[in-house]
Amino acid sequence: MTAIDDLFAAAAAARVKAYAPYSHFSVGAAILGSDGAIHAGCNIENAAYPEGTCAEAGAIAHMIMAGITGLAEVAVVGGPEGAAEILCPPCGGCRQKLREFGGLSAKVHLRDADGTVRTLTVEDLLPVSFGPEYL
Ligand code: THU
Repeated sequence: MTAIDDLFAAAAAARVKAYAPYSHFSVGAAILGSDGAIHAGCNIENAAYPEGTCAEAGAIAHMIMAGITGLAEVAVVGGPEGAAEILCPPCGGCRQKLREFGGLSAKVHLRDADGTVRTLTVEDLLPVSFGPEYL
């Protein structure tokens, strides 16, 4: 297994745990932290819709709780609950969250329905972005 395979496996395992009774769209994310460990999360929805959280946010929360604030790579998988994954690009808010901890060069791996991996950087996903160096 390559490192990317490990990340996708962790993201897929997290996706199964998604709590998504409203959208029925389950997402899993797995971060490779600067500690070399994998930190995973799933989306967690809420009856008060805006209170739901994305898989990437859950993975970041786990990473922070492990005492790590730097990430090099993240894999994201998602799709309709119980069905095969489809390419699931991070939402705008999650792109900003990944930028906070991964900087512009962090890699974001997405997997298409046919298993093809597409890798982008945070800068690809969030060009001309605002970040910690502005403050
Ligand atoms: N979702 C994520 O978990 N990550 C993303 O970056 C895109 C969207 C979740 C939020 C919501 O629970 C469901 O997918 C449908 O939007």
